[in-house]
Amino acid sequence: MAKILVIDDDKSIRESLDLYLTEEGHQVAAAGTGTEGLNKATQISPDVVILDIRLPDIDGFTVLEDLKDENEDAKVIMITAHHDMDTTIRAMKEGAFDYIHKPINIDELEIAIQKALRTSEMEKKISGLLVESSSRSFKVGDIIGTGKAMREIFKTIGVVTQSRTTVLIQGESGTGKELIAKVIHNNTSPTEPYIAVNCSAIVDTLLESELFGHEKGSFTGAISKKLGKFELARYGTIFLDEISEMSLNLQAKLLRVLQELEFERVGGKDRVRVNARIIAATNKDLKTLVDEGRFRDDLYYRLNIVTINIPPLRERKEDMPLLIDYLLNKINMELHKKIAGVSKEMMDVFYRYGWPGNIRELENLLVRAAVVAKGHVLGREDFPDLTGGASRAEAACAEDASGRMSTLDEIEEKHIRRVIERVGKNKGEICEILGISRPTLERKLEKYGIAFD
Ligand SMILES: Nc1ncnc2c1ncn2[C@@H]1O[C@H](COP(=O)(O)OP(=O)(O)OP(=O)(O)O)[C@@H](O)[C@H]1O
Ligand SMILES: [Mg+2]
Repeated sequence: MAKILVIDDDKSIRESLDLYLTEEGHQVAAAGTGTEGLNKATQISPDVVILDIRLPDIDGFTVLEDLKDENEDAKVIMITAHHDMDTTIRAMKEGAFDYIHKPINIDELEIAIQKALRTSEMEKKISGLLVESSSRSFKVGDIIGTGKAMREIFKTIGVVTQSRTTVLIQGESGTGKELIAKVIHNNTSPTEPYIAVNCSAIVDTLLESELFGHEKGSFTGAISKKLGKFELARYGTIFLDEISEMSLNLQAKLLRVLQELEFERVGGKDRVRVNARIIAATNKDLKTLVDEGRFRDDLYYRLNIVTINIPPLRERKEDMPLLIDYLLNKINMELHKKIAGVSKEMMDVFYRYGWPGNIRELENLLVRAAVVAKGHVLGREDFPDLTGGASRAEAACAEDASGRMSTLDEIEEKHIRRVIERVGKNKGEICEILGISRPTLERKLEKYGIAFD
């Protein structure tokens, strides 16, 4: 049973939905205006709100916004007589869960309600740790996070597990991209295969046959027919890690697969259907690579349907205590240790440190400290010196005098100027240090107006 609130100025709709939903076993409340609806929402904290866009007093979008402010977990299904795409997109963007046209088709509404309730359930399950944290009952594979950014990510995970849309996960190294991919998989198709492919680890020609398979004799060395990862993943998940490293040639092929949901094995003619969900991950900013011509924009838009941006650890330090609890718990079990925690003094160092390697770095440091520690509390002597790293990291997320954080462009410009100061105007050497090509360097010099003659 769920608590459902119907907000619609049409009395007959209110009454018929009330009747139908009550019969389905839900607890129903109804309101004829936006104001009345918001009041009722405060009183009963509904699980689902069915909301008409045209209301006599306040417009539906404002009601939606206020509802979300008040109770961000409520799932709002919007209803309207208008069929235009803009309204639909706007409704979804502003946080509606679903969107249904009038006249209401009761089956469609029922499906939307079921989906909303399942999603709520899933979100509660995934973020269940928030409630359980004090009892320290963590499961392996849980995603730890308490801040707003992570809560939003839990929600997105909840939504994407209801479909098979492509998901793009962006985040610095060690932020948990693969962990999130696995959680999505486990909550979508746990009995089907999960197959990870690291796009940077294999040479281009082999990667193609790795992904799509090949027919016997299609190239030297292809002594027998081989199925590719897309086929092996069946109805499961294919995780394309480090997608930014895929060659432009293969990007074109992948784009075709995403468009047609079919492909051919290398050297073959049969069309093979893609049933697996594709999750791509990268620790680079794909948009920038698109702007630099290193990643196809059409592929980017295909991948970018649902994007999960994981913030780096230094931007969500509020998660640190819980993460440390979680990781120490895991370490204690694996290494048969009884580490109780991290000293206050060390926690202060942790808070100041920049964590370039993010959660993986935190985990590695804790493992090493747990191995060498003599006592049950990990102290300064159990860790390498992180204070140097802190200043490095602070330089990387530089602030100006007023405390405003620098933009990436500003940091990039500063760094390029610093390198030029160090090595002089030697383009070859500068490119080498920065790890970029000459044309990229030229573009950047022009962009930042750095004179170079
Ligand atoms: N929110 C989190 N809660 C608990 N553990 C986490 C979380 N995020 C990451 N981890 C752990 O940190 C380690 C690194 O995560 P993962 O391998 O998913 O990172 P990644 O983003 O794929 O890194 P890379 O870019 O280096 O491949 C793993 O052991 C993972 O379980
Ligand atoms: Mg990874």
